[in-house]
Amino acid sequence: MKLPTFEPYKIKMTEPVYTSSREEREKWIKDASFNVFNLKSEQVIIDLLTDTGTGAMSDRQWSSLMTGDESYAGSASYYNLKEIVTELTGFPWVIPAHQGRAAENILFSVLVKEGDIVPGNLLFDTLTGQIEFRKAIPVDCTVKEANDLYSWFPFKGNINLAKLEDILRNNPHEKISCVIVSVTNNAAGGQPVSMENLRGVRGLADKYGIKVFLDATRFAENAFFIKNRETDYAEKSIREIVLEMFSYADGMTMSAKEDAIVNTGGFSAYRDEELYRKAVGINIVYEGFTTSGGMPGRDMNALARGLTEGTDQEYLKSRIDQISFLGSKLMEYGIPVIEPFGGHAVYIDAERFLPMVPKEEFPAQVLVCEIYVEGGIRCSEVGTLMANRNPITHENRYPLNEFVRLAVPRRVYTDNHMAYVAAVVKNVFNRKGNINKGFRIKKEEPILRHFTLELEGM
Ligand code: F0G
Repeated sequence: MKLPTFEPYKIKMTEPVYTSSREEREKWIKDASFNVFNLKSEQVIIDLLTDTGTGAMSDRQWSSLMTGDESYAGSASYYNLKEIVTELTGFPWVIPAHQGRAAENILFSVLVKEGDIVPGNLLFDTLTGQIEFRKAIPVDCTVKEANDLYSWFPFKGNINLAKLEDILRNNPHEKISCVIVSVTNNAAGGQPVSMENLRGVRGLADKYGIKVFLDATRFAENAFFIKNRETDYAEKSIREIVLEMFSYADGMTMSAKEDAIVNTGGFSAYRDEELYRKAVGINIVYEGFTTSGGMPGRDMNALARGLTEGTDQEYLKSRIDQISFLGSKLMEYGIPVIEPFGGHAVYIDAERFLPMVPKEEFPAQVLVCEIYVEGGIRCSEVGTLMANRNPITHENRYPLNEFVRLAVPRRVYTDNHMAYVAAVVKNVFNRKGNINKGFRIKKEEPILRHFTLELEGM
């Protein structure tokens, strides 16, 4: 008999979960103005809001906290971190950050100015926010296959190279800050970018003299997909693949709270010393000293260790297998999910799930709230609320798709939890014929509104 694969770790510590009643949840979601970001965590049974900072650290990571070096300058923990980052990526210049958006702020402060264009693959909300905050324009160049939710195209995170070239050719050189490639592509469903595509982006960037940066938040999961889906990479190690991926970039930003399995942390890294020096200036003004970026030494140690664990092939296999277990169960129940499943999450096609709720009433958010009430599962909307308004016309931007994202924290939940999640979603699916009304917005902020907005029933 072929032996099943299993998680390459055992569980040493647990955290209790309160099983609430439906009546409690109905009250709590109303009190939270139908925004799950306003719920208290103890009101949640299974939290699939995000895979960011919610992973379980290993005993090695916890013990590395004790040996953190808290020196203001030149901390040994910084050099630990720098060593592993350079080993994995080839970038010699590294600035720690407390999370991804701090690293992005530093890079964009150096590169992006008002009126600039930033092409990339469906940049994620915080990246788009940072670009638009600077009155620059993010331009999505993701391949058209990303819009065909049910095609098994293996690299739906890829950049459409013809579109990218059009932009690079037809805009003044000084207006293009850089090209940003997110690996994996969160906004498109956690879909990977192929090595061939990264090579193609590099070729165009060289041709037009533009720099390329990777938003490397989920680089290890991306490498795992390359190994399993791209010709010529099956025999390569994850480390070899990672090194080649970064060889096509001039630098990177990283939220380490995902693939480095830490509760906080991030960094930016650079090939070019001059750019690094400029970034250091911004880092010192906003974040902290060059060798900390505001990160305690202990957290840099845990992050350094997490980069090694997060790029372990057996761990990555069990991680991606768990997402696939959840996705397959949902498919078995007839629930419309994006295929192939992403690396960190399963995305439900909310428009197909709830065809009776009009787009103007935020169907994905309605589904998020229904799933919460049904079984205490918190997940997130990746739809019109997250897409925000057009900064010029202030009209709602309706994205091509309304998704509900079930993002799975790393090393936290078992497959039994996933089976429960799938059953809850199925129960909502069974009564979808009775769900035909959505929400209107009661209160919202101009930037990244989905985190704080308040809704009311129609
Ligand atoms: N880039 C990507 C692709 C992300 O998914 C995130 C965060 C960031 C950058 C920003 O990192 O949160 O450390 O500042 N994504 C989280 C999510 C919030 O739920 O997908 P951060």
